[in-house]
Amino acid sequence: MELPDRVPGLTARAGITLRPWRLSEEDLDLVRQASRDDYIPAITTVPRPYTDAEGAAFVRRQWHRTETGRGYPFVIVAPGGRPVGSVGLWLKDLDRGRASLGYWMAGSGRGRGAASAALEAVAGWALHGLAVPRLELYVEPWNTASRRTAERAGFRREGVLRERMQIAGELRDMDLYSLLRGAPPEEDRAAEASALGRFGGTTGSH
Ligand SMILES: CC(C)(COP(=O)(O)OP(=O)(O)OC[C@H]1O[C@@H](n2cnc3c(N)ncnc32)[C@H](O)[C@@H]1OP(=O)(O)O)[C@@H](O)C(=O)NCCC(=O)NCCS
Repeated sequence: MELPDRVPGLTARAGITLRPWRLSEEDLDLVRQASRDDYIPAITTVPRPYTDAEGAAFVRRQWHRTETGRGYPFVIVAPGGRPVGSVGLWLKDLDRGRASLGYWMAGSGRGRGAASAALEAVAGWALHGLAVPRLELYVEPWNTASRRTAERAGFRREGVLRERMQIAGELRDMDLYSLLRGAPPEEDRAAEASALGRFGGTTGSH
């Protein structure tokens, strides 16, 4: 399939939208907020310490990723229009039938369902718009917020990959999550199973 040469605009649930990065005051402010987070600079190329020059270089790096076919970095925009976070779809292993995703939110926008809504929208676009068969994401086992975000967006935990990623100079264990084009999302399957159970559609013991 011919891949789009630019990051599209997407609409997610709960009034969240997604768009490409801009070299604007508000997007630089988002990078500035992310640079103050304890964890985000360790798992991304968000600069720490922040300077306007480094912030602008970060935005240009996102554009370059799309120009070179490496992926689609989106800004997550809250219902009022304020940029609150980022989701990236990365295509390094696309020729093997899979892509990966990463995400972060500025502290001030967290806890309102924006990350999971945005992840679900980008994953849906990747699976059904770009026809990617398998999506993966990696989460440190302690990172409950990220694990819940993945699960809420329909991803299923497959297991732990030991010492899989170097973060802050250490090899860390990572939980591997996946979502397949050919399988219903995990929460649908759970709902389906519970509906079957409730309406007596299973042969299990009751
Ligand atoms: C992970 C992160 C993106 C979540 O963003 P968010 O906008 O707060 O997430 P949402 O509001 O969409 O919440 C998604 C789920 O996580 C749960 N959650 C959010 N923060 C939580 C926390 N601190 N502890 C426990 N659960 C949490 C929510 O309750 C929700 O679950 P539910 O639907 O079962 O209620 C954000 O915490 C973050 O940017 N963390 C730092 C960067 C990071 O860890 N990125 C992911 C790397 S794999």
